[in-house]
Amino acid sequence: MWYNQEAMKKISFGNLMVTGGAGFIGSNFIRHVFEKTGYAGRIVNFDALTYAGNPRSLDDVAAKFGERYVFVRGDIRDPEAIRRAFDEYSIDAVCHFAAESHVDRSIVSPGAFIETNVNGTFNLLQAARERGDAFVRFHHVSTDEVFGSLGAEGFFSETTPYQPHSPYSASKASSDHIARAYHDTYGLNVTITNCSNNYGPYQFPEKLIPLMILNAVEGKPLPVYGEGLNIRDWLHVEDHCAAIWTVMTQAESGTTYCVGGRSELRNIDVVKRICALVERFRGPLPNGAPRESLITHVADRLGHDKRYAIDCSKIERDFGWRQTHTADSGFEETVRWYLDNPAWVESVRSGEYLRWIETYYAGR
Ligand code: NAD
Ligand code: TYD
Repeated sequence: MWYNQEAMKKISFGNLMVTGGAGFIGSNFIRHVFEKTGYAGRIVNFDALTYAGNPRSLDDVAAKFGERYVFVRGDIRDPEAIRRAFDEYSIDAVCHFAAESHVDRSIVSPGAFIETNVNGTFNLLQAARERGDAFVRFHHVSTDEVFGSLGAEGFFSETTPYQPHSPYSASKASSDHIARAYHDTYGLNVTITNCSNNYGPYQFPEKLIPLMILNAVEGKPLPVYGEGLNIRDWLHVEDHCAAIWTVMTQAESGTTYCVGGRSELRNIDVVKRICALVERFRGPLPNGAPRESLITHVADRLGHDKRYAIDCSKIERDFGWRQTHTADSGFEETVRWYLDNPAWVESVRSGEYLRWIETYYAGR
C-alpha cells in the first residue's frame, strides 16, 4: 500500500467510530484500516443491523484485533444512543457510512431514507460538535448520485452543482449540505467524499453486481432495467476504502473529494461480463444454454439516471491516490469471492445472521 505515513500524522485520533460498519463498504473499511494503514487505535462499529448489516462479515477482524475492535448495536436515529457510545468510548473521530443505500427501496419507501440519512447524520454531527476540541474529524461518505445524471459527455467533479433525482440521492445531498454547514458554521472538522458505484466482497445481493452473480450461478433470470444502456463508473471497494482513509487523515477540514473507478460500463455489458465469468468457472447452464440467455429485460426504474462518471483528478493530484483494480481484475476476483463464500451468502439471504446476533449480542 502506498500510504504516506508522515502525511497521515497531520490528523491523529485513537477512538474512531465507524457507523454502518456491518454493511458492505463499512466492513471492508474496518478490515482495511486495521490491516493496511498502520492505525494503532480502536474502532467502534456503531450499526443498527438493518437487513443490510451483517456483523459476521467482521468475524475475522473481531478474532484478530480483540479489544481494538468493538461492536455497538445502535441506531443513528437515536441521539441518546450516539451520545452514550461517544462518552463510553471517548470518540474523537467518525467515519460515517450508516445509511439506507438502495435506490429501488428509496422509490418504494422513501421515509426511512429521510430518517436515517438526513436526521441520523444530523444527530451524529450534533454529538460530534458537543465534544468540542476533543473531536478531530468527521468524515462523511457520500455518493456521486447527488450530482444528478450525465449525458454522453462530461464528468462529475468537486465543483459540479447538486441535482439529485431519487429519494436516496436527495437524502444523501441533504446530509452532505448539513455536514458542510457544521464545518462552515461551527468549525467542525468535516471532510466529504462522493464516490461512484462500488463493487467487491460482502456486498448485499440487492445491488446489480452481486445480484447478477448469484442469479447467474443459480440459473435465475437476470433482470436488466430497460435496454441496459445506463452507464455506471465501477470502483472496487478496496480502492474506495484507501481513498476514504487518505482523505480522512490528510485532507484539510471543509474539503470534498470525488472518487471514481475510471471504469465506465453500460449495465448490459456488466451483466454480460459477469455471465462470461460465471460460465468460465461453472460452465454453461445444465441444459447447455449460455448463462447470458438468462438476461431478461424488465420495466425501467422510475427516474433512472442515465450516466454517472467521475473526474477524480483532485484526489490523484493532492495525495497520489490511484485505483489498484481494473474492471477486468476486480470483476473476476469478485465473482470468485461469491463462489468461494456460500456460507456468507446464505447467512445474509436466510436471515440466519439476524437470529444469530440476537443471541450473540444479547444484553449489549
Ligand atoms: P449497506 O446498505 O451495505 O450498509 C449500510 C449499513 O448501515 C448497514 O450495516 C446497516 O445496518 C447500517 N444502518 C442502516 N441504517 C442505520 C441506522 N439508522 N443506524 C445505524 N446503522 C444503520 O451500504 P453500503 O453500500 O456499504 O454504503 C455505505 C455508505 O456509502 C452509504 O452512506 C452510501 O450512501 C455510501 N455509498 C455507497 C455506494 C455503493 O456503491 N454501495 C456508492 C457511493 C456511496
Ligand atoms: P444499483 O446496483 O442498484 O446501483 P445504483 O442504482 O446506485 O447505481 O444499480 C446499478 C445499475 O444497474 C443501475 O443503472 C440500475 C441497474 N440495475 C438493473 O438493471 N437491474 C437490477 O436488478 C439492479 C439491482 C440494478
